[in-house]
Formats: sequence, structure tokens, C-alpha cells
Amino acid sequence: MKNISKLILTFVFGTIAFGFQAKAEDFPADIKPLMTKYTCFACHKVDARLVGPAYKDVAKKKYSVDKIVALIAKPQPSNWPGYPPMAPMTVPKDDAVKLAKYINSLK
Ligand code: HEC
Repeated sequence: MKNISKLILTFVFGTIAFGFQAKAEDFPADIKPLMTKYTCFACHKVDARLVGPAYKDVAKKKYSVDKIVALIAKPQPSNWPGYPPMAPMTVPKDDAVKLAKYINSLK
């Protein structure tokens, strides 16, 4: 009996993990290489919490592009209670602007 519940648990979590991975493909073709290069995708998904908030939830805060660029370089963990603090990320301005515009394009 114990083995069967273990099997079921493995199956359920495996499916969830697989689902998450499939969703990482959600980034559009021009944004995905940036999310990968700067490792953002490891902690953020488009529409679900991962380590950090879903980009759709970030978009709801209605930050300006400049503000998002600033927050990528210098995160403010107090904006996201209940989350671990994000490490400051070094992203060249051009790319940070692209990422910020993409985040703000999400509804
Ligand atoms: C190691 C995990 C991790 C990585 C890598 C990461 N983030 Fe985050 N991010 C977080 C967490 C956790 C939060 C929420 C806590 C915080 O803001 O410190 C967050 C918050 C944010 C916010 C909201 C800031 C705010 O104050 O509202 C933005 C925007 C963001 N991340 C963008 C990015 C981008 C773009 C990248 C890639 C350049 C990136 N993150 C990489 C974990 C990560």
C-alpha cells in the first residue's frame, strides 16, 4: 500500500514538474534567449509563481519600464512579502529594457 502511494505521489509531482517545464516555453522567441542568458527563467514564469513572482503579477504593479530596469539591478524584496529576496542581476541596459517592456506587455 505504501509503495502505491509513493508511486502516485511521484506521478503527480512528475506531472506538475513536467507541466512547469512545458510552460517555460511560453516566452516569445525574441525574449526567451534573454531569459535564458540572464537565468531569469530559473526563478520566473509567465503566469505562475516559481521562486519569484509570475511576470503577470509583476505587470499588475504597473511599474514604468525604467522602474523595472532599476529593480532588476537592485531588487526590493519588501515589494514581495513571502518571497525570498531576488539577487541583484547584472543586465546591460538594452536587454533590461527589452525584458521590462516584455513584462509590462503581459496582461
Ligand atoms: C534566483 C532567483 C531569481 C532570478 C535568477 C531572477 N529573479 Fe526576479 N525575483 C526573484 C524573487 C524571489 C523576487 C521577489 C522578491 C524580490 O523582489 O526580491 C523577484 C522579483 C522580480 C521583479 C519584481 C521586482 C519588484 O520589486 O516588484 C522583477 C521585475 C524581476 N524579478 C525580474 C527578473 C529578471 C528580468 C530576471 C533576469 C534578469 C530575474 N528577475 C532573475 C527571483 C529571481
